[in-house]
Amino acid sequence: MRQKVLAGNWKMYKTHSEARAFLDQFIPLIAGRDPKRTVILCPPFTTLETLCAAAGDHFDVGAQNLHWEPQGAYTGEISAPMLLEMGIRHAIIGHSERRQYFSETDESVNKRLRAAQHQGITPILCVGEGLTEREDNETDAWICRQLDHGLEDANLENLIIAYEPIWAIGTGKTCEAPEANRVIAMIRTHLGASNTPILYGGSVKPGNIDELMTQPEIDGVLVGGASLEAESFARIVNYK
Ligand code: PGA
Repeated sequence: MRQKVLAGNWKMYKTHSEARAFLDQFIPLIAGRDPKRTVILCPPFTTLETLCAAAGDHFDVGAQNLHWEPQGAYTGEISAPMLLEMGIRHAIIGHSERRQYFSETDESVNKRLRAAQHQGITPILCVGEGLTEREDNETDAWICRQLDHGLEDANLENLIIAYEPIWAIGTGKTCEAPEANRVIAMIRTHLGASNTPILYGGSVKPGNIDELMTQPEIDGVLVGGASLEAESFARIVNYK
Protein backbone atom coordinates (compact mmCIF):
# COMPACT_ATOMS: atom_id res chain seq x y z
CA MET A 1 0.00 0.00 0.00
CA ARG A 2 1.25 3.48 -0.84
CA GLN A 3 2.17 5.91 1.91
CA LYS A 4 -0.54 8.41 2.99
CA VAL A 5 0.86 11.95 3.16
CA LEU A 6 -0.78 15.02 4.70
CA ALA A 7 1.42 18.01 3.95
CA GLY A 8 0.97 21.64 4.95
CA ASN A 9 2.53 24.45 2.92
CA TRP A 10 2.72 27.56 5.09
CA LYS A 11 3.97 29.74 2.20
CA MET A 12 5.07 33.16 3.56
CA TYR A 13 3.08 32.94 6.78
CA LYS A 14 3.98 32.74 10.49
CA THR A 15 6.73 34.23 12.60
CA HIS A 16 8.60 32.15 15.18
CA SER A 17 6.11 32.98 17.95
CA GLU A 18 3.12 32.30 15.70
CA ALA A 19 4.63 28.93 14.74
CA ARG A 20 5.13 28.08 18.44
CA ALA A 21 1.52 28.92 19.23
CA PHE A 22 0.37 26.70 16.32
CA LEU A 23 2.47 23.77 17.54
CA ASP A 24 1.21 24.02 21.13
CA GLN A 25 -2.31 23.55 19.82
CA PHE A 26 -1.62 21.19 16.91
CA ILE A 27 0.56 18.48 18.48
CA PRO A 28 -2.02 17.31 21.08
CA LEU A 29 -4.74 17.29 18.40
CA ILE A 30 -2.87 14.78 16.21
CA ALA A 31 -1.55 12.62 19.06
CA GLY A 32 -3.97 9.76 18.40
CA ARG A 33 -3.55 9.60 14.64
CA ASP A 34 -2.81 6.47 12.62
CA PRO A 35 1.03 6.25 12.63
CA LYS A 36 0.96 5.18 8.99
CA ARG A 37 -0.08 8.72 8.03
CA THR A 38 2.95 10.89 7.30
CA VAL A 39 2.46 14.52 8.33
CA ILE A 40 4.80 17.09 6.79
CA LEU A 41 4.87 20.80 7.66
CA CYS A 42 6.67 23.11 5.22
CA PRO A 43 7.21 26.49 6.90
CA PRO A 44 9.24 29.47 5.67
CA PHE A 45 13.01 29.11 6.11
CA THR A 46 12.99 31.32 9.23
CA THR A 47 10.81 28.86 11.16
CA LEU A 48 12.36 25.58 9.98
CA GLU A 49 14.41 25.32 13.15
CA THR A 50 11.41 26.02 15.40
CA LEU A 51 9.52 23.19 13.75
CA CYS A 52 12.49 20.80 13.73
CA ALA A 53 12.90 21.28 17.48
CA ALA A 54 9.26 20.32 18.10
CA ALA A 55 8.84 17.64 15.40
CA GLY A 56 9.75 14.46 17.33
CA ASP A 57 7.51 11.62 16.11
CA HIS A 58 4.66 14.06 15.55
CA PHE A 59 5.49 15.27 12.05
CA ASP A 60 8.26 15.72 9.47
CA VAL A 61 9.55 19.11 8.39
CA GLY A 62 9.95 20.13 4.77
CA ALA A 63 11.39 23.17 3.01
CA GLN A 64 9.50 25.14 0.34
CA ASN A 65 12.40 25.13 -2.12
CA LEU A 66 16.13 24.56 -2.44
CA HIS A 67 18.95 25.51 -4.82
CA TRP A 68 20.70 22.94 -7.02
CA GLU A 69 24.22 23.85 -5.91
CA PRO A 70 25.44 22.68 -2.49
CA GLN A 71 26.85 26.16 -1.79
CA GLY A 72 27.90 29.27 -3.69
CA ALA A 73 27.28 32.92 -4.44
CA TYR A 74 23.48 32.71 -4.82
CA THR A 75 22.03 35.45 -2.62
CA GLY A 76 18.67 34.56 -1.16
CA GLU A 77 18.90 30.82 -1.84
CA ILE A 78 19.46 27.84 0.45
CA SER A 79 20.92 24.41 -0.34
CA ALA A 80 20.20 20.75 0.34
CA PRO A 81 23.18 20.25 2.72
CA MET A 82 21.92 23.17 4.84
CA LEU A 83 18.56 21.45 5.17
CA LEU A 84 20.00 17.99 5.71
CA GLU A 85 22.10 19.13 8.65
CA MET A 86 18.87 20.27 10.32
CA GLY A 87 17.34 16.83 9.76
CA ILE A 88 15.04 17.95 6.95
CA ARG A 89 14.18 15.23 4.42
CA HIS A 90 11.51 16.85 2.21
CA ALA A 91 11.26 19.91 -0.02
CA ILE A 92 8.47 21.28 -2.19
CA ILE A 93 9.81 21.84 -5.71
CA GLY A 94 8.13 23.69 -8.57
CA HIS A 95 5.15 25.11 -6.71
CA SER A 96 2.98 27.12 -9.12
CA GLU A 97 3.66 30.32 -7.12
CA ARG A 98 7.41 29.83 -7.69
CA ARG A 99 6.75 29.29 -11.39
CA GLN A 100 4.37 32.26 -11.65
CA TYR A 101 6.05 34.92 -9.47
CA PHE A 102 9.72 33.89 -9.45
CA SER A 103 10.18 32.77 -13.05
CA GLU A 104 10.92 29.14 -12.28
CA THR A 105 10.95 27.06 -15.43
CA ASP A 106 10.66 23.33 -16.03
CA GLU A 107 14.44 23.40 -16.43
CA SER A 108 15.20 25.06 -13.07
CA VAL A 109 12.58 22.86 -11.42
CA ASN A 110 14.35 19.80 -12.80
CA LYS A 111 17.74 21.02 -11.53
CA ARG A 112 16.37 21.63 -8.05
CA LEU A 113 14.58 18.28 -8.03
CA ARG A 114 17.63 16.28 -9.09
CA ALA A 115 19.83 18.09 -6.55
CA ALA A 116 17.33 17.26 -3.80
CA GLN A 117 17.28 13.58 -4.74
CA HIS A 118 21.03 13.43 -5.13
CA GLN A 119 21.45 14.71 -1.55
CA GLY A 120 18.82 12.37 -0.08
CA ILE A 121 15.93 14.80 0.19
CA THR A 122 12.52 13.71 -1.12
CA PRO A 123 11.12 16.34 -3.47
CA ILE A 124 7.40 17.07 -3.53
CA LEU A 125 7.04 18.02 -7.19
CA CYS A 126 4.04 20.25 -7.92
CA VAL A 127 2.31 20.11 -11.30
CA GLY A 128 -1.02 21.43 -12.47
CA GLU A 129 -2.86 23.29 -15.18
CA GLY A 130 -4.21 26.84 -15.22
CA LEU A 131 -7.76 27.78 -16.10
CA THR A 132 -6.85 28.37 -19.76
CA GLU A 133 -5.43 24.87 -20.21
CA ARG A 134 -8.46 23.36 -18.48
CA GLU A 135 -10.93 25.28 -20.64
CA ASP A 136 -8.98 24.36 -23.78
CA ASN A 137 -9.00 20.66 -22.85
CA GLU A 138 -5.22 20.77 -22.56
CA THR A 139 -5.04 19.62 -18.93
CA ASP A 140 -3.51 16.18 -19.45
CA ALA A 141 -1.03 17.27 -22.11
CA TRP A 142 0.09 20.23 -19.97
CA ILE A 143 0.70 18.05 -16.94
CA CYS A 144 2.52 15.36 -18.94
CA ARG A 145 4.85 18.04 -20.32
CA GLN A 146 5.58 19.32 -16.79
CA LEU A 147 6.26 15.77 -15.65
CA ASP A 148 8.48 14.88 -18.61
CA HIS A 149 10.65 17.99 -18.20
CA GLY A 150 10.57 18.20 -14.41
CA LEU A 151 11.49 14.54 -13.97
CA GLU A 152 14.18 14.20 -16.62
CA ASP A 153 16.89 11.89 -15.22
CA ALA A 154 15.07 11.76 -11.88
CA ASN A 155 14.56 8.80 -9.57
CA LEU A 156 10.89 7.86 -9.33
CA GLU A 157 11.49 5.93 -6.09
CA ASN A 158 12.44 8.99 -4.02
CA LEU A 159 9.60 11.26 -5.00
CA ILE A 160 6.21 12.62 -4.03
CA ILE A 161 4.05 14.36 -6.63
CA ALA A 162 1.34 16.91 -5.90
CA TYR A 163 -1.34 17.58 -8.50
CA GLU A 164 -2.36 21.18 -7.88
CA PRO A 165 -4.69 22.75 -10.46
CA ILE A 166 -3.75 26.44 -10.33
CA TRP A 167 -7.37 27.60 -10.61
CA ALA A 168 -8.12 25.76 -7.34
CA ILE A 169 -5.24 27.20 -5.27
CA GLY A 170 -6.39 29.69 -2.66
CA THR A 171 -9.63 30.29 -4.54
CA GLY A 172 -12.02 28.13 -2.53
CA LYS A 173 -12.77 26.23 -5.77
CA THR A 174 -11.79 22.60 -5.20
CA CYS A 175 -11.39 20.28 -8.11
CA GLU A 176 -14.21 17.72 -7.81
CA ALA A 177 -12.84 14.64 -6.05
CA PRO A 178 -13.55 12.24 -8.98
CA GLU A 179 -11.79 14.59 -11.42
CA ALA A 180 -8.75 14.93 -9.11
CA ASN A 181 -8.75 11.14 -8.91
CA ARG A 182 -8.86 10.86 -12.71
CA VAL A 183 -5.92 13.24 -13.23
CA ILE A 184 -3.87 11.49 -10.54
CA ALA A 185 -4.56 8.10 -12.18
CA MET A 186 -3.45 9.62 -15.50
CA ILE A 187 -0.20 10.86 -13.88
CA ARG A 188 0.46 7.44 -12.36
CA THR A 189 -0.06 5.68 -15.69
CA HIS A 190 2.05 8.25 -17.55
CA LEU A 191 4.97 7.75 -15.15
CA GLY A 192 4.53 4.01 -14.76
CA ALA A 193 5.41 4.55 -11.10
CA SER A 194 2.96 2.56 -9.04
CA ASN A 195 4.62 3.24 -5.65
CA THR A 196 5.02 7.02 -5.92
CA PRO A 197 2.61 8.84 -3.58
CA ILE A 198 0.55 11.37 -5.54
CA LEU A 199 -1.25 14.08 -3.58
CA TYR A 200 -4.02 16.52 -4.46
CA GLY A 201 -3.70 20.23 -3.59
CA GLY A 202 -5.99 23.22 -4.08
CA SER A 203 -8.48 24.51 -1.49
CA VAL A 204 -8.35 21.36 0.63
CA LYS A 205 -10.41 22.02 3.77
CA PRO A 206 -11.87 20.09 6.72
CA GLY A 207 -15.14 19.99 4.76
CA ASN A 208 -13.79 18.19 1.68
CA ILE A 209 -10.90 16.08 3.02
CA ASP A 210 -12.98 12.98 3.78
CA GLU A 211 -14.38 12.79 0.26
CA LEU A 212 -10.98 13.40 -1.33
CA MET A 213 -9.40 10.63 0.73
CA THR A 214 -12.05 8.08 -0.28
CA GLN A 215 -10.74 8.31 -3.86
CA PRO A 216 -8.53 5.28 -4.60
CA GLU A 217 -5.79 7.15 -6.50
CA ILE A 218 -5.41 10.10 -4.08
CA ASP A 219 -2.66 9.27 -1.56
CA GLY A 220 -2.88 12.49 0.42
CA VAL A 221 -3.05 16.26 0.18
CA LEU A 222 -0.88 19.37 0.02
CA VAL A 223 -2.70 22.07 1.97
CA GLY A 224 -2.07 25.81 1.95
CA GLY A 225 -4.56 28.08 3.75
CA ALA A 226 -6.17 25.36 5.89
CA SER A 227 -2.77 24.24 7.24
CA LEU A 228 -2.24 27.60 8.97
CA GLU A 229 -4.84 26.95 11.62
CA ALA A 230 -4.12 24.09 14.07
CA GLU A 231 -7.69 22.82 14.36
CA SER A 232 -8.37 22.73 10.65
CA PHE A 233 -5.07 21.06 9.73
CA ALA A 234 -5.51 18.54 12.56
CA ARG A 235 -8.98 17.70 11.19
CA ILE A 236 -7.37 17.13 7.78
CA VAL A 237 -4.68 14.88 9.29
CA ASN A 238 -7.39 12.97 11.19
CA TYR A 239 -9.53 12.47 8.07
CA LYS A 240 -12.15 9.72 8.27
P1 PGA B 1 -4.56 26.26 -0.81
O1 PGA B 1 -3.05 26.13 -1.34
O2 PGA B 1 -4.84 25.03 0.03
O3 PGA B 1 -4.57 27.52 0.03
O4 PGA B 1 -5.46 26.33 -1.99
C1 PGA B 1 -2.53 24.91 -1.80
C2 PGA B 1 -1.10 25.04 -2.24
O5 PGA B 1 -0.76 26.10 -2.83
O6 PGA B 1 -0.28 24.14 -2.03
